[in-house]
Amino acid sequence: MKGGDMSSVSPLVSFVLGAAMATVCVLFFMSATPARRLVDISAFTSAAPDNLTGIASSVSDSDSDAAVADSAAALASTATLAPAPAPVQAPSPWGDLEEVLARAATKDRTVIMTQINAAWTRPGSLLDLFFESFRTGEGGVARLLDHLVIVTMDPAAYEGCKAVHRHCYFLRTSNGVDYRSEKMFMSKDYLEMMWGRNRFQQTVLELGYNFLFTDVDVMWFRDPFRHISMAADIAISSDVYIGDPYSLRNFPNGGFLFVRSSAKTIDFYRAWQQGRWRFLGKHEQDVFNLIKHEMAPKLDLAIQFLDTAYISGFCQLSKDLNKICTLHANCCVGLGAKLHDLRGVLDVWRNYTAGTPDERRAGKFQWKLPGICIH
Ligand SMILES: *[C@@H]1O[C@H](CO)[C@@H](O)[C@H](O)[C@H]1NC(C)=O
Ligand SMILES: *[C@@H]1O[C@H](CO)[C@@H](O)[C@H](O)[C@H]1NC(C)=O
Repeated sequence: MKGGDMSSVSPLVSFVLGAAMATVCVLFFMSATPARRLVDISAFTSAAPDNLTGIASSVSDSDSDAAVADSAAALASTATLAPAPAPVQAPSPWGDLEEVLARAATKDRTVIMTQINAAWTRPGSLLDLFFESFRTGEGGVARLLDHLVIVTMDPAAYEGCKAVHRHCYFLRTSNGVDYRSEKMFMSKDYLEMMWGRNRFQQTVLELGYNFLFTDVDVMWFRDPFRHISMAADIAISSDVYIGDPYSLRNFPNGGFLFVRSSAKTIDFYRAWQQGRWRFLGKHEQDVFNLIKHEMAPKLDLAIQFLDTAYISGFCQLSKDLNKICTLHANCCVGLGAKLHDLRGVLDVWRNYTAGTPDERRAGKFQWKLPGICIH
């Protein structure tokens, strides 16, 4: 049965790319079939590095090319590479995913997701700061950790996750990318990773879950869900917010992204994935920008751009601590710079939470500016 399915796909694949990689096959097959079928196919095609000891240089941030390179380089100097292992045939990589999603989801089938590599699970890493923000946050934001799924892409990160968190998922890659080696920004493997993340998000939608994807360099101080409109199919953070939440002229940042599972949003993800081939060589955030004007009206899709007063970032910094919900270390290159500035942010936040209501209202607490990136 699987063989039959595959042969019906291959003409399409060869049409597109000639020498077809497994990924291409999966992408096109999936975009033409219902969610359930994907289980068989990915099991069938996952003749890929399942067991990678050592380094992944997965990305958490579309704007943080150098951070990726940094973290990978830092790891390369300390980690030992295992010999390339024989491919392992997983029974179904997605079965496990459904179980993790079911456990972590809210009653209305919403999960929060982030994606990490091994460097970020160490003490003093971004993952530590991420957790610290929830724990020093206000209004019950810490309770949202119950709904957080941490997606890992290498065994070390998976073990690191399990040591500190309940809902960890090991995303086995079937795209042939060797996550042990360093990825240069916009290299073929870098694009493969970013598009892999995008494809994974589509899978979550197809399984019937809404998700809020957050990069791990986003600090969570208050519950951001109250700023996500019930009317929005997609709510995405803004590098630059121009004042109108539904204007497509806002500049999106996929590092903080809510998507409601529906036929419309799944169609949008299909178009998004196809955009990869229409606009060959672009990464997924650029393609989002290129297709939003065409696809939003076509699918009658409400895309809400989140106001940076609440869902903020270094690109357009919210200076009102009474309003801020989340703060993303975007417009910031380099893992060291992010760690430095977010540490400073958390220290100010801690003082703020200890302040009296009067002090808070009077604006006594302000970010320490400038940092390395934050200004
Ligand atoms: C991965 O492969 C290495 C070496 O081949 C082996 O020692 C290790 O136990 C494997 N890990 C997993 C999670 O399969
Ligand atoms: C926090 O408050 C303490 C005590 O007032 C002060 O010494 C410290 O500099 C403050 N830290 C920051 C980051 O503002």
